[in-house]
Amino acid sequence: MTKICCIGAGYVGGPTMAMIALKAPDITVSVVDVNAARIAAWNSDDLPIYEPGLAEIVKECRGRNLLFTTEVKDAIREADFIFVSVNTPTKTYGIGAGRAADLRFVESVARSIAEVAESPKIIIEKSTMPVKTAETIKDILAASGRRLAHQVLSNPEFLAEGTAIADLLEPDRVLIGGEHTPGGDQAVAALVDIYARWVPRERIITTSLWSAELSKLVANAFLAQRISSINTISALCEATGADVDEVANAIGKDSRIGPKFLKSSVGFGGSCFQKDILNLVYLCEYYGLSEVAAYWNGVVHMNNWQKQRFAARIVRTLFNTVAGKKIAVLGFAFKKDTNDTRESPAICVVRDLLAERARVSVYDPQVPESQIRSEVRGPDGENELLTVVSNAYEAADGAHALVLVTEWDAFKHLDFERIYATMPKPAFIFDGRNILPLDELRQIGFRAEGIGKPAYSAPLLPHPSLKTVYSPAALTV
Ligand SMILES: NC(=O)c1ccc[n+]([C@@H]2O[C@H](COP(=O)([O-])OP(=O)(O)OC[C@H]3O[C@@H](n4cnc5c(N)ncnc54)[C@H](O)[C@@H]3O)[C@@H](O)[C@H]2O)c1
Repeated sequence: MTKICCIGAGYVGGPTMAMIALKAPDITVSVVDVNAARIAAWNSDDLPIYEPGLAEIVKECRGRNLLFTTEVKDAIREADFIFVSVNTPTKTYGIGAGRAADLRFVESVARSIAEVAESPKIIIEKSTMPVKTAETIKDILAASGRRLAHQVLSNPEFLAEGTAIADLLEPDRVLIGGEHTPGGDQAVAALVDIYARWVPRERIITTSLWSAELSKLVANAFLAQRISSINTISALCEATGADVDEVANAIGKDSRIGPKFLKSSVGFGGSCFQKDILNLVYLCEYYGLSEVAAYWNGVVHMNNWQKQRFAARIVRTLFNTVAGKKIAVLGFAFKKDTNDTRESPAICVVRDLLAERARVSVYDPQVPESQIRSEVRGPDGENELLTVVSNAYEAADGAHALVLVTEWDAFKHLDFERIYATMPKPAFIFDGRNILPLDELRQIGFRAEGIGKPAYSAPLLPHPSLKTVYSPAALTV
C-alpha cells in the first residue's frame, strides 16, 4: 500500500489530505503535526478548522485510510510521499524582517526527514515557498550523508478557504514542478498518478521546480492586485458619486477583464495574500529589481490604506467622535465560511475604533471569543472596551453604528427593523462588503453607507473640472 505523510495539519494539510484519502482509498494518509491540541481536535467531532463539507469527508475517511497523529518521525519513516504543509509566515526578525518568508519550520522538517528517513522519499512542497527553497531542502537532505536518492517536488496549493472542498474536488489546475532528470520525471509522474484519480489529466500542469514555486506567489499577487485595483476605484466612486458595483459590472463584461475578483470591500485578509506579495517583493529586491518590488508593494500599501480609510470614515460620519459610543462589528473572520482570522481586516477596523475609545461589540458566527481577543490584544494587553457577544442582535442593541466586516450570508437575512428599533438615532450602518440593500435600509431610517457607493448624507465634492488644474493658489483664494 502506498503511504503518504503530510507534515502540518493546518488549513491546507487537513483538507488536501482528506481529499486524497477520499479519492484514493488504497493509499494510507497520515497527517502529522507538532501541535498536539490541533491533532486532538482533528480526531474529535469538533474539527480545528471550519470549512463547508470538510467534516463529512473526515468522518468518512478517518480511521480507514486517514490518520491524524503527533508521531512525526514514525510517519516520515514509513512514507513514500512526504507533503510539507507547514506554515511559512512573514519573518518578524533579522534580515528581511517584514517581507521575507520565515523558513525555520520548513528547514526543521527537512532536518527531521534527513535524520529519520531510511529509504528514498518523494518530498513535496505543498506550503508556499520562496523560489529556490527546494534547493535548500535538497542541500539539507544531501548533508545527512545517507546517500538516499530523495526527490523534491513543488506542488503549491491553490485552494481558497471557505470553498476549499469544492476547489480540491474540481481544481482549475494542479501544478507540479520537478527537476528534469530521470529521477525527477519519475517522481512527477508518480504524483500526477495520485491526482489523476479525480482530476482530468489536462488540468495537471507539470513545470520546472522554480516555475512552480514562483507561479504560486504570482497567482496570489495577481488576485490581490485585482482587489486593490477595484478598491482604489471605490475611493474615487465615493468622491465622485459613482457606484463601484456598477463600474465593476461594466468593466467585468469585457472578456479580457472578466467579472471575478472585482468586488470592492474593506480590504483583503487571510494568511496568504499579504505574506506572499511581501515575499515576492523581497525576492525582487534580492535580485535588484527595485521597480518591480515597488510595483507589487503598492498592492499591500493600498490594502492597508483601504482598511484605515473605512475606519476613519466611520469616525468622520459619526460626527467626528466615537468615544464612549457603542459600535457593533458584524463578522471577524477574514471572509465568510471560514473561522480563520489571520490578517482579517476586522482586526484593523476594531483596533482603530478602540483607539478612538469606542465601545466595540463583536459577533462572528464561527470565531470564538478567545481568538477574537487574542487578535485584537495590543502591547497594553486586554482592552476593556471590547466585548464579544453571541448574536448580531445583542451586538446591535444600543449601538450607534453597525459595521459589517465579514460577508456571512446570515447577515443579509437579519431583521433590520428590529435592529433599528434598538439603536440610538441617527442609526448608522457601514457595509464593508457591499452585501446589504442600502436603499431598503435607508427606507427603514438607517443612514446606510457602502464601500464605493454614493454617500447618504455627505454632499458631493465639486466636479473636478471646476478646479483650475494649473493654479492651486486659485483654489485657496
Ligand atoms: N491557508 C490557505 O488558504 C493556504 C492556501 C494555499 C497555500 N497555503 C500555504 O500553505 C502553507 C500552510 O498554510 P496553513 O494555512 O495550512 O498553515 P497553518 O498554520 O494552518 O498550519 C501549519 C501547521 O504546521 C505545523 N507545523 C509547523 N512546523 C512543524 C513541524 N516541524 N512538524 C510538524 N508540524 C509542524 C503547525 O503546528 C501548524 O499546525 C503556508 O505556506 C501557506 O502559505 C495556505
